[in-house]
Amino acid sequence: MAEKFYYVDKQLARLEGADKAALQAQIDDTDWSILQALEHIGGGEGRGVFAPLPAMEIAEIKEREEELRAIGLAAIRAGKVGAVLLAGGQGTRLGYDQPKGTVDIGVTRSLYIFQCLIQNLQKVTAEAGCMVPLYIMTSTVNHEATVSFFREHDFFGYDSSYVKFFIQEMAPAVDYEGRVLMSDEKNLAISPNGNGGWFGSMVKAGLLSDLSERGVQWLNIFAVDNVLQQIADPVFVGATIDSGCESGAKVVKKAAPDERVGVLCSEDGRPSIVEYYEMTDEMLHSRKENGDLSYGFGVILNYLFGVEKLVEIVEQSLPVHVVEKKVPYMDENGVSHKPQEPNAYKFETLILDMVHMMGSCLPYEVVREKEFAPIKNKEGVDSIVSARELLTRNGVTL
Ligand code: UTP
Repeated sequence: MAEKFYYVDKQLARLEGADKAALQAQIDDTDWSILQALEHIGGGEGRGVFAPLPAMEIAEIKEREEELRAIGLAAIRAGKVGAVLLAGGQGTRLGYDQPKGTVDIGVTRSLYIFQCLIQNLQKVTAEAGCMVPLYIMTSTVNHEATVSFFREHDFFGYDSSYVKFFIQEMAPAVDYEGRVLMSDEKNLAISPNGNGGWFGSMVKAGLLSDLSERGVQWLNIFAVDNVLQQIADPVFVGATIDSGCESGAKVVKKAAPDERVGVLCSEDGRPSIVEYYEMTDEMLHSRKENGDLSYGFGVILNYLFGVEKLVEIVEQSLPVHVVEKKVPYMDENGVSHKPQEPNAYKFETLILDMVHMMGSCLPYEVVREKEFAPIKNKEGVDSIVSARELLTRNGVTL
């Protein structure tokens, strides 16, 4: 591997005085141990023994809906349920340089992604007749823009005393030679370190006391980009509480055996998410007696975690994933580049690995067409166009 501080040293040599001291301070503040993950690229962590994990499926949910809804609503009314919006990502695939939640997906009117999510949550607060505390994770890159956007739009009618923002940690990016990148003359190229550290960041921001003052015992974590998902869904909350599990995960039935989604299953007796590329052919195609896939439910990044368990595991470290991304940078000659193709490695921990730290997890099936409209890409699959179609089919005026 080339000298990892190649670009940084060149730049340090050019700077003087306060600028040099500021860059040195950034270097000293960075957790470089994360770069050790480069040693395992492609190798992957050894995985344990997988087994299917039965889900609570739609037929059962329908049958028990009233009872489960009552349990969930009681918990929400008792103030035991909070929601956490993960909005620290950079949405590089969408290629929009403002926070993803500020994208206007409306056609005849403005309809922002954040607005869709708040409106989905407002359905629950209206039904429950009480507020649900909402915690929003941002990063240093998009924090100010996110907070100002919510203020400008008066939190889309959500009582702002129930909304708290917190900022996630950052990590350096390196080129494919392992050399740490500079974003400009004075700054390292750092970026959000994935969505896995969200609870640690909440704790660092002092929000544990907020959770305990409000009596929050369950947190519903959700991604910014799925505009159809139900948040603090009383039936899901009720089902998870009733199951006695430490966590719950909304899942959708896989569309095909080889669909590229992370599947919720069991690994060495604990809940776990296995990626499609980690599954053997046998796992991909194995079927239950009724003909359904044994590993048939994919996660949609909507989880319910018990706060007590989160506190217990907050110090445990998650595996670091090395991902290829487009990272703007300044080269050794001081020339800036805005790559159109991935050019660098970023280091991320992922919330899906947190599921494996839970003693138990209830896979809870939702109807894909009603609850899954992610906006990831500029065009095609999981884009604004596909999300608009799904919103329209669900009666949302665009
Ligand atoms: P994605 O995996 O889609 O990543 O995030 P991303 O950074 O938003 O988008 P790309 O891959 O660059 O196109 C899934 C969810 O996790 C959040 C995102 O905001 C989204 O809600 N996330 C991701 C964070 O909060 N922090 C991160 O560091 C990464």
